[in-house]
Amino acid sequence: MGSGPKQRRRTPLIVFCSQTGNTRRVVETMAEPLNAEVAAIDQLKDHQLRGRPLIGLGSGVYWLRLARPVVDLAARLPAASRVFIFSTSAWGPNWGPFYQSDLAKKLDQRGIEIVDRWHGLGQDHNPLFKWMGISRGRPSEADLRRAREFARGLKPRL
Ligand SMILES: Cc1cc2nc3c(=O)[nH]c(=O)nc-3n(C[C@H](O)[C@H](O)[C@H](O)COP(=O)(O)O)c2cc1C
Repeated sequence: MGSGPKQRRRTPLIVFCSQTGNTRRVVETMAEPLNAEVAAIDQLKDHQLRGRPLIGLGSGVYWLRLARPVVDLAARLPAASRVFIFSTSAWGPNWGPFYQSDLAKKLDQRGIEIVDRWHGLGQDHNPLFKWMGISRGRPSEADLRRAREFARGLKPRL
């Protein structure tokens, strides 16, 4: 996907952190209908953030919170950014708003619009809990379909 200034005006960017691959699968699924460029947070260069019609920002949940570099990025987004946020976690399919609250608060403090949010389950591969098989098989095909539908729903917002 091109990354010159002209392409950026049309191309959304999705920035993510995924320690064990679940969120990466969700991101790749969301990127398709949006024709989005995708960047892992540790590969991201700040100039990639400029001139985007929409930026997705999310991660897996690690010890009750989103990855710190993802939350911290809120402070460096261009002022007029429009953002959607997303996460995957092993426990609590309805805990998305709680896990996302730090990031949402930081965006809100900067007056950055959150156009929508997504949360889904992802199998816990943490060595400490792996044996419990929490959220085994997630994200499932149905989860990924939901992610694709979510992304399709964002297209009119570009
Ligand atoms: C180090 C670590 C800590 C985790 N802590 C939590 C947690 O506090 N709450 C939760 O619901 N899931 C927790 N999980 C599960 C992950 O949030 C879940 O598997 C998520 O899908 C991981 O995303 P990723 O595969 O993109 O890294 C943890 C996983 C790891 C590896």
